[in-house]
Amino acid sequence: MQTIETSNKKSKLKSLDTLFIKTYGCAMNVYDSSRMSDLMQQAYGLRIVDEPRDADVILMNTCSIRDGAENKVYSELGRYKLLKDKRPDLIIGVGGCVGQQEGERIQKRAPYVDIVFGPQTYHRLPEMVKEIRRNRVRLTEIDMPEIEKFDHLPKPKVEGLTGYVTIMEGCDKFCTFCIVPYTRGAEISRPPEDILEECRQLIDAGAKDISLLGQNVNAYRAEDADGNAVDFAGLLHLVGSLEGMQRLRFSTSHPMEMTTELCEAFAEIPALMPYLHLPVQSGSNAILKAMHRGHTREDYIRIIEELRLHCPDIALSSDFIVGFPGETEEDFEQTMDLVRHVHFDSAFSFKYSPRPGTPAAKAEDDVPEAIKSERLLRLQALLKEQSRLGMARQVGKTTEVLVEGKGKREGDLTGRTPDFRIVHFQGNPRLIGHILPVNITQAYDLSLRGELVIED
Ligand code: SAH
Ligand code: SF4
Ligand code: F3S
Repeated sequence: MQTIETSNKKSKLKSLDTLFIKTYGCAMNVYDSSRMSDLMQQAYGLRIVDEPRDADVILMNTCSIRDGAENKVYSELGRYKLLKDKRPDLIIGVGGCVGQQEGERIQKRAPYVDIVFGPQTYHRLPEMVKEIRRNRVRLTEIDMPEIEKFDHLPKPKVEGLTGYVTIMEGCDKFCTFCIVPYTRGAEISRPPEDILEECRQLIDAGAKDISLLGQNVNAYRAEDADGNAVDFAGLLHLVGSLEGMQRLRFSTSHPMEMTTELCEAFAEIPALMPYLHLPVQSGSNAILKAMHRGHTREDYIRIIEELRLHCPDIALSSDFIVGFPGETEEDFEQTMDLVRHVHFDSAFSFKYSPRPGTPAAKAEDDVPEAIKSERLLRLQALLKEQSRLGMARQVGKTTEVLVEGKGKREGDLTGRTPDFRIVHFQGNPRLIGHILPVNITQAYDLSLRGELVIED
């Protein structure tokens, strides 16, 4: 831990009442932010506010996955500085992946930042806040301790019908373009008993749709209390058989760890929903190799075939990168070809951007910006067409919808299908929280419209 003295020594301390958290990035960060808020509420009784100007403590939970991440953080910090100029007691913390990556550089550039911390150290926030208030110092806390975080977090607070449980963290895959292994550290899995306990609490509190989270959930490897090895498919069976578990999902998985048992789990575990996000990044074997993804396009296609054998209606989603160093027109065409072959229901696609410290950043970023843009447009047009087709195919089906809340239109409710599509339909708000059959009547780009099969 690094400590810097500050000059603000004399003024009297104001009590801490309110907290604002700004979250960027992936589902893990959303989960981490909710844990930070639980922690700070427990330690200081802080109330969450929606505006930074109303907060005594401002935390940023940052993401550094793509270009411009650091600049976004500094420009947001600039706005918080104006608040701190007026209220010197305001505490500003920068956590998450940019915090981990930049460390002390943040306080060199923005000396008004009180705490810099990483994804593995946020459980120490209450201590850090105490320390900076007592000794008037600034702190940087970005060591990567062995997994100790989860033992120090309060029980999760549950709100709403959907719940999230982190089952593993970090990544050992080291894809050459990716910063995550450097910001999140090595793969570490939580004991199955802890995960089951957290799921149990979520179910008891009313969660109907639970997602297991991790950078590579299917790299999950742990031992239970009796010393038996538990892999990801095994964990899914355990979690899926908890009483009251209605809907189970997971994200994100890696093609290299898609075992036969995992493909079969989609057929064997009734609660496991027919939806999978399986990033492929590229359809060219040369690029996949340069990315160090550890699989070929043929491997990927084989996995999808196996999945569809066990779960024919599974909705598939993926991530793509265009313009990786050395990507030729032919390589890109291979990606288009793979998309045509597989058919995705939804996808995220990005232009490659070099990240500091990654192996790919040493190679020349040689695909011109205009070509990256043009390839991205072509890919996105194809993916959009496939997603539209996938939506259109739902019309006429009757599907089980978890009613999540009121819709925007008068008298509308909104919910999710098992394969994660949004559905709007007319119904009584007392149906919220129930899973009911809905007949799909219309398809739009991003949502469906339907009618309750049994009127209430
Ligand atoms: N763990 C997940 C992905 C996490 S990052 C996996 O292994 O697939 C989410 C997505 O961001 C990646 O799938 C990739 O498509 C994209 N991404 C990561 N680094 C990137 C970079 N340097 N440039 C562009 N996109 C990137
Ligand atoms: Fe990044 Fe690759 Fe790890 Fe995914 S598997 S987090 S893309 S290094
Ligand atoms: Fe971003 Fe870190 Fe998640 S870089 S995508 S917040 S793991």
